[in-house]
Amino acid sequence: MRIDIITVLPELMQSPFNASILKRAKEKGLVEVHFHNLRDYTTGNYKQVDDYQFGGGAGMVLMIEPIDKCISQLQAEREYDEVIYMTPDGLTLNQGIANELSLKQNVIILCGHYKGVDQRVRDMFVTREISIGDYVLSGGELAAAVLCDAVIRLLPGVLNDETSALTDTFQDNLLAPPVYTRPSNYKGQEVPEILLSGDFPKIEKWREDQALERTSKKRPDLLK
Ligand code: ADE
Repeated sequence: MRIDIITVLPELMQSPFNASILKRAKEKGLVEVHFHNLRDYTTGNYKQVDDYQFGGGAGMVLMIEPIDKCISQLQAEREYDEVIYMTPDGLTLNQGIANELSLKQNVIILCGHYKGVDQRVRDMFVTREISIGDYVLSGGELAAAVLCDAVIRLLPGVLNDETSALTDTFQDNLLAPPVYTRPSNYKGQEVPEILLSGDFPKIEKWREDQALERTSKKRPDLLK
């Protein structure tokens, strides 16, 4: 998979991609992530990427021209399955969307800033608008990093057996069951005996029951 991220703040985006699972995915050649600084697609001396909104009102708007240049240049080089715009008024990200995007080959992610982008960018280029929750961030960069993490860990070969995504919370619309590690008794708090029994069919059944119980207690909406 190839991901091209368009941003005015590429420096904000580096570190999540240079640690742990995302770093390993890049090193294994399973994902390529490219950052594009919108200011590199401006013409004037001031490298202007934003301007006041027509009709008045507080807040700057990202201009269409540099975004058009950047997206058009990328699209001339290869075909893209999606142009995603990170915005609080998009569709809220969930595991289903992450699964779907993990099957794509080439994806562009556009990060909004200030009051967002000129509406014509959304009309002309964007195929999907994604929010990571009902709150407003200063820009789309951290949201894009969250999206990339959720998607990249699902790419075949990124996770090994021990970290398999198949047992993740949300994978079957269920929360994951509780997990324990050594010691089996900590200050009188015991690990459930079944987990020490070695009876794997029974353990599997216990985990399913726990997942269901946890989901009905904490997130009954998922069971509807
Ligand atoms: N940009 C600002 N807030 C955002 C959010 N909640 N999700 C995605 N992009 C955003």
